[in-house]
Amino acid sequence: MNRNIKLGVFGFGCVGQGLYNVLHQTRGISAEIKKICIKHPEKTRPIDASFFTTSRDEILNDPEIDVVVELIDEVDAAFEIVSAALRKKKAVVSANKKMIAEHFTELLELQNQYATPFLYEASCCASIPVIRNLEEYYDNDLLTSVQGILNGSTNYILTHIFENGKRFDEALHDAQKLGYAESDPSLDVKALDPKYKLLIILVHAFGIVLKPENIFNYGIDHLKNEDIRYAREKNSRIKLIAKCAKIDNKVFAYVMPQLVSESDTLNKVAYEYNGLLLAGAFSEHQFFMGKGAGGNSTGSAVLSDISALTYDYRYEYKKLHQQLNHSYTLDKMLELYVSYNGEFKPDIHDFENISVRHESAECNYLVGKINLAKLATANWLNEPSISILLTENNL
Ligand SMILES: NC(=O)c1ccc[n+]([C@@H]2O[C@H](COP(=O)([O-])OP(=O)(O)OC[C@H]3O[C@@H](n4cnc5c(N)ncnc54)[C@H](OP(=O)(O)O)[C@@H]3O)[C@@H](O)[C@H]2O)c1
Repeated sequence: MNRNIKLGVFGFGCVGQGLYNVLHQTRGISAEIKKICIKHPEKTRPIDASFFTTSRDEILNDPEIDVVVELIDEVDAAFEIVSAALRKKKAVVSANKKMIAEHFTELLELQNQYATPFLYEASCCASIPVIRNLEEYYDNDLLTSVQGILNGSTNYILTHIFENGKRFDEALHDAQKLGYAESDPSLDVKALDPKYKLLIILVHAFGIVLKPENIFNYGIDHLKNEDIRYAREKNSRIKLIAKCAKIDNKVFAYVMPQLVSESDTLNKVAYEYNGLLLAGAFSEHQFFMGKGAGGNSTGSAVLSDISALTYDYRYEYKKLHQQLNHSYTLDKMLELYVSYNGEFKPDIHDFENISVRHESAECNYLVGKINLAKLATANWLNEPSISILLTENNL
């Protein structure tokens, strides 16, 4: 590729401005932004108006632009932009996990058909280099599990609740003000955002391509004061954990709030930081930690992808092509804490066994073992008064 890259950027919000900042403070890469396509031309911008356009074609039809950087917060428009760019054989960098997760198979086909690279390191854990590591470094290692905190916004909220006694809505408001939350915060608090990231990780870790609806997710929006008190009594914190792991040739995956005890590495991952624990047959346990949200940190991952394009890097999807014979399963036994009020109770027949049952005027809860397949279809889960936490034994 042309070593003096001309970039056409879509989006100049938190991440778009972050990319602009890091690009202008980095000497090692020869790349310049030629045009930025935005949605609302009436907004005041911190850089010269000549950069901006509202016409996609001004970027997509410009033969001088080699790389399209997609940093918008809409899914359908983002997919149209990325597909059109790949069809024009322009390399693409994106941070849009929702768009990537919802269109993974089509994006794979487009990359093959037009022999054009599509890189998306920033989509997973913002500043932590996850995808390229899974693709290249862990190529020959027999990975057994990847798990961690993949959402900076909910980790920021949970840390504030546990460390500073803040209320949920206050902490969410702060996360939004600081640019850690998605434009639609339900993507974070309902654990959709980490599920999209986990879907991408599953491809690069285990060669499994799923649809978002195949992965069970449960957010932190049901959390009650009683659950926080219970976690404190156990000397634990609550973290929103995304996990995929392989047992024999079966791979399971989920995103759920979990009790994480003081001695666990993930307990120390605080505020907007993300943390990822990898286990492999030969490398054993490894831990990555870094900022999982924010303009400059996400912008730095985007810039790293742009830099990788200068040496013609592309994902080879090695695990997909290795024909690893891994199959996806929901058949996994989990230990769960479930809190409920007097009116709505979990169906105890869904549990294989119940080890603790506590009912009092202040709170009701049980601890028991349940199969993930059963949990994923349980109607009682949707009751706002019911909330679940994985116990420490599932890490
Ligand atoms: N924020 C983070 O920490 C973070 C971390 C990792 C990944 N991401 C991902 O990065 C992407 C951008 O996030 P963000 O936080 O930067 O969003 P944001 O602050 O809300 O900015 C979105 C930008 O996209 C532009 N836009 C929206 N629809 C458009 C369209 N149809 N055509 C052209 N421009 C359009 C907006 O234009 P106007 O300025 O005119 O409104 C705005 O500049 C998302 O996919 C997000 O999931 C974000």
